[in-house]
Amino acid sequence: MPETIPSIILDCDPGHDDALAIVVAARHTNLLGITTVSGNAPIESTTYNALVMKDLLGLDVPVHKGAMCPLVAEPQYATYVHGESGLDGADLPAPTSTIDSENAVEYIIDTCRATEGIWLVPTGPLTNIAMALRLAPDVGHRIAGISLMGGGTFGNRTTSAEFNIWVDPEAADIVYKYGGPLIMAGLHVTHQFRATQPRIDVVKAMPGQLASVLGDLMQFFTNMYMSRHHGMDGGAVHDPLAILVLTHPHLFTRKNAHVVIELTGTHTRGMTVIDERDLREVKDGNCDVLMTVNAQEAFDVMTQAIKYFSH
Ligand code: BDR
Ligand code: CA
Repeated sequence: MPETIPSIILDCDPGHDDALAIVVAARHTNLLGITTVSGNAPIESTTYNALVMKDLLGLDVPVHKGAMCPLVAEPQYATYVHGESGLDGADLPAPTSTIDSENAVEYIIDTCRATEGIWLVPTGPLTNIAMALRLAPDVGHRIAGISLMGGGTFGNRTTSAEFNIWVDPEAADIVYKYGGPLIMAGLHVTHQFRATQPRIDVVKAMPGQLASVLGDLMQFFTNMYMSRHHGMDGGAVHDPLAILVLTHPHLFTRKNAHVVIELTGTHTRGMTVIDERDLREVKDGNCDVLMTVNAQEAFDVMTQAIKYFSH
């Protein structure tokens, strides 16, 4: 059972693992709204995919379309993992829902001003969140915190940079400096949470349309990962961990550390530089860096959430 029921806004770029994050959020949080961002695919596609998930789950939550490009950098997509659509690999039912607005940033600001104590959960590039914090600095004081998927002690898009941070490092810089509670699910923990074949088969064996679609999506995602890596036994299901740490914190270990974003390095732009030195001179931590996850238990929580919605 979840330990707490946080109120959240999920800011995402679906994306296979974002789609799974939506399922976990729908089951275990008070999901106030979904905002979309350009990332795994162009904004039109990530927004379409969010609407697909909303309808598949039968959710009554608003979907607000967000930034079409990063603050400074040119847009970049992750077709090499998620396919051209951002959600390749399954027959997706066309959504009947439509977006509630084209202004995710305004929605985030208004909602955080109307209700104190919301968690912002970004699982894509941090463009929308950074814009909200810049346009309305009071939002940073009104929220419970930010729990994000991004960064890590190693990279995936480059040697040192993880995709979400690498796409919009200037936005990440704003978020990491915002001054309130910050939790980071980086690659070193998300790579522990893999969709292995036995775990995918559990989902495929479940009845209902949702499980069938998600089983196909997980299979595509894992096949892509296994074809691109030497020794991975399944796709790293990154994004649900940013939710699960809020709802099932006992499944994680963490370490508070000072983390900054590299903006200018020739080989390191977009890196999350985590200060792990045991020295008194080290600055106070600004981020809870997740270190380990109980992967099997966390996967069981996610699988049960799929089952809950799959009829
Ligand atoms: C992150 O990048 C995207 O491809 C995934 O959805 C995840 O948010 C992992 O680097
Ligand atoms: Ca994502």
